[in-house]
Amino acid sequence: MKNIEISPSILSCDFRYLDKEINSIKDYVKYLHFDVMDGNFVPNISFGIPVLESINKGNYGLVNDVHLMIINPLKYIDRFIDAGANIVTFHYEACVNDMEIDKAINLIHSKNALAGLSIKPGTDICAIIPFAMKLDLVLVMSVEPGFGGQKFNPNALNKIKRLDDLRKKEGYHYLIEVDGGINEVTGKECINNGADILVAGSYIFKNEDRKKACNSLK
Ligand code: DX5
Ligand code: ZN
Repeated sequence: MKNIEISPSILSCDFRYLDKEINSIKDYVKYLHFDVMDGNFVPNISFGIPVLESINKGNYGLVNDVHLMIINPLKYIDRFIDAGANIVTFHYEACVNDMEIDKAINLIHSKNALAGLSIKPGTDICAIIPFAMKLDLVLVMSVEPGFGGQKFNPNALNKIKRLDDLRKKEGYHYLIEVDGGINEVTGKECINNGADILVAGSYIFKNEDRKKACNSLK
């Protein structure tokens, strides 16, 4: 039986009660997803390093899964890792060339964090191939990045399947994470196509019964 992990996105939390919100899910999941948005790469601004730093002090025992939806990610990777990021995922579309992507992956690894590369719905999986050997995680966006609560785009399923086939064929070690519009139906479809980690924001944090919501995704 495949081991499926959940990464709840704090973007959907009630920020008045972050400690309470995280405590309400921490016993049922392994990761915590931080959606960092800069208002440039995506048309929304969320939060940054101080929020990660504060949550990291909470020692919730979760893997800090940081999703950078920002331009110029190379400039900020250091500081996010120093603030407690365990996984740093940045966008293929936010980098000017392959060299910058390679540099970013090497920098993340040099600071003993795991490196993820994310592709938007309109970007094909072939974009990650030059880096596949080095990547710890590939984040498939099943919505246009920038907002929680959007509808799942089923085109993500074929990407997940192709990424799973590719790693099986070539022996790559990356995990496949899916992000956007995940619920108990779409989550199962992603798992059936090869996903390892499901990011869910509104499905979990808009649900009174957090344990049930988290467990219904596995
Ligand atoms: C969108 C973010 C997603 C989003 C998920 O840009 O990357 O993580 O917050 O939210 P839901 O699960 O509500 O679609
Ligand atoms: Zn995300």
